[in-house]
Amino acid sequence: MEFTALNNGVKMPMEGFGVFQVPDPVQCEQAVLDAISSGYRLIDTAAAYMNEEAVGAAIKKCGVPREELFITTKLWVQDASYEGAKKAFETSLKKLGLEYLDLYLIHQPMGDYQGAYRAMEELYKEGKMRAIGVCNCYPHVLADLCETAAVIPAVNQVELHPFFQQENALGLMKEYGVVPEAWGPFAEGNYGIFTHPVLTTIGAKYGKSAAQVALRWNVQRGVVVIPKSVHKDRMEQNMDIWDFALNGEDMAEIAKLDIGRSEIVDHSSPAFVKMLHGMKIHE
Ligand SMILES: NC(=O)c1ccc[n+]([C@@H]2O[C@H](COP(=O)([O-])OP(=O)(O)OC[C@H]3O[C@@H](n4cnc5c(N)ncnc54)[C@H](OP(=O)(O)O)[C@@H]3O)[C@@H](O)[C@H]2O)c1
Repeated sequence: MEFTALNNGVKMPMEGFGVFQVPDPVQCEQAVLDAISSGYRLIDTAAAYMNEEAVGAAIKKCGVPREELFITTKLWVQDASYEGAKKAFETSLKKLGLEYLDLYLIHQPMGDYQGAYRAMEELYKEGKMRAIGVCNCYPHVLADLCETAAVIPAVNQVELHPFFQQENALGLMKEYGVVPEAWGPFAEGNYGIFTHPVLTTIGAKYGKSAAQVALRWNVQRGVVVIPKSVHKDRMEQNMDIWDFALNGEDMAEIAKLDIGRSEIVDHSSPAFVKMLHGMKIHE
């Protein structure tokens, strides 16, 4: 496992475990326990995933000291305001059963997320979290936030996989010192990624799967990856990417797979924005 240094010096693992779409508490707790025993130390949840309690239960049981874990959760759109963020953070912390978070992210730059970010800056300065950041900030949104923030976001978690590579966005993140983190590093299973001929052919040279090539490609671009799986054998496979390296030719072949846009989400669609605002996680 390799680590990256955030803009405040905090060390963050380059690979973690995501728990989106694992709402069943028993399955989620087991998945996090399996992930930690497979070597994952970064766990990525969110208030909106409705599984913070299950993640917290696994953290409590796992036997790994708290300081060796890197726990991320996210503020949901419904709570995107100064007051809302202060309250939502306390709720998440309580559900996780933690004293502090490693990383607190704004899940979507929607609603009064600037107000929410001010609250997060204060919580960060009070030592309640080791780093703060954002998700889904396209370049113009990230630039706007960075130009007004007192604390530059440490991380921007965005969709990044071989079919949506976002090289320009990575360039801007580098300029501001924001670490990119890939959600959907397998494009959520789309594009036949696990049997894709280009990824499979490259992987065969190294005795690796298409999944491992997709992850390795991102980490070699300096991107933190948080693959999700509820299967222990896949968790282990996904973690087994630290003993090989893609060469320049491999990277260039994968660069050709980019279609330049997301086919999973459309943040420019009013219907999508409306849907996210309509998703309530509490009264
Ligand atoms: N900030 C945001 O807006 C945002 C959005 C989406 C996701 N995320 C975060 O990013 C994490 C990862 O993204 P994601 O969960 O959406 O999708 P993903 O990691 O791209 O793909 C997950 C899918 O791949 C399958 N899979 C995993 N490893 C595999 C392997 N080695 N071989 C074959 N299939 C495999 C999983 O199936 P099984 O589980 O059945 O193995 C699951 O169906 C999330 O869990 C979440 O923490 C954040």
